Amino acid sequence: MATRFDPPGPLRGTLVPPADKSVSHRAALIAAMGEGETTIENYLDAADTRSTLAAVQELGATVLHAGPGVVDRGLRIHGAGLRGAGTTAAGAGKPQPLDIDVGNAGTLLRLLPGWLAGQETGAWRLDGDESIRRRPVDRIAEPLAQMGARLTCRDGRLTPVTIEAAPLHGIEYELPVASAQVKSCLLFAGLLAEGETRIFEPLPSRDHSERMLAAAGAEVECADGTVTVQPAKRLESGEIVVPADFSSAAFFVVAALIVSGSEIALSGVGLNPTRTGLLSILARMGAEIEVEPEGERGGEPSGRLRVRASHLRGTEVGGTDVPLAIDELPLVALAACFAEGETTIRDAAELRRKESDRIATVSEALTALGASVETSQAGMRIEGTGGLRGGAIASHGDHRIAMLGAIAGLASEKGAAVTGMEAAAVSYPNFEVDLASLGDR
Ligand code: S3P
Repeated sequence: MATRFDPPGPLRGTLVPPADKSVSHRAALIAAMGEGETTIENYLDAADTRSTLAAVQELGATVLHAGPGVVDRGLRIHGAGLRGAGTTAAGAGKPQPLDIDVGNAGTLLRLLPGWLAGQETGAWRLDGDESIRRRPVDRIAEPLAQMGARLTCRDGRLTPVTIEAAPLHGIEYELPVASAQVKSCLLFAGLLAEGETRIFEPLPSRDHSERMLAAAGAEVECADGTVTVQPAKRLESGEIVVPADFSSAAFFVVAALIVSGSEIALSGVGLNPTRTGLLSILARMGAEIEVEPEGERGGEPSGRLRVRASHLRGTEVGGTDVPLAIDELPLVALAACFAEGETTIRDAAELRRKESDRIATVSEALTALGASVETSQAGMRIEGTGGLRGGAIASHGDHRIAMLGAIAGLASEKGAAVTGMEAAAVSYPNFEVDLASLGDR
């Protein structure tokens, strides 16, 4: 069934976006790897982060909720310990792998094997939904194998992936693409390895794992594009606070820029500089966005964003912009439709490996609404026309495409009908309610 999003008039008001998905995944995993109890304030209650809670419970961590059905307030996790990931009892011969369902969560799929690979005993089999089954795992399997891990993937690169416990040793590894998921997986494995693990990043990517591991007592050092981790005996987090998700806030940022007459504020938003590349790109496009820092929330900078509808111009996006705005590039393409002149997005082949092939799905959606988009293997070129006509689009089961379609609908002349809007629940179950709260004023 399609959901309609029609021009609502200017967007007004203040909103606190939902908790950060990346930080929530890491909070649950690092708490599960830790000793004793960790309190997680503001854990994201969404499909992806529920998959992570279910996984850590399977692995022997205890998850205590504040009340029935309440995931996001005062969540407490009693850790299984760094070397204590549970598995099914070994029978005679080979142990039966423990099945873990990662659902739609690419971050869980890529991070968890780092912890499991270095256990002293056990075997696990990770699988997920249709979209997860298309997403590559070789990017973690190759470096983990270099560390001594025993992993098998379908066709050498896809899920299901089976991991058998093995002794690991530290390596020096140059990431072929800037990927925080691969980096984080190797950091987890490095904690369990013998000797130091050193990772070279081609470009900076989100550093939530580095921050959270260091806060839990791990020896992690970051300097000049190199992250080094030492083996650890134990982790202990105590308390983790999750800021609001910049990537969720980004939908309202772009909505306010392109729906004329809008003026909104978003508060409590995580402003880690490895996540906010969108703000630099939009500044080049002439966006009027004020950033008011609100200090740190749980080791992550956070703040308030004030956004006003703005006259935008086209820009060039590539290189360091890409990992710093990887999940927001679909929104850059949308903003570009409303800008004057051309916008080019380059060096973004990684978009093809997200929950959907986002070069294909973004261009299909925007073209269906009247945009002029040309794609290439690693990017797209958008001819800004100052607006969109409207029409019908499909989310292809991708949460960010569903929400992009909704925003595009509000800003277009005739509105948009979005099929598969329920995909938004992967990261933002309350998206439609929050969006409606900014309209009708
Ligand atoms: C994420 C890293 C990024 C991002 C994804 C979440 C993370 O993926 O696109 O949505 O939480 O580490 P890559 O590491 O594959 O770039």
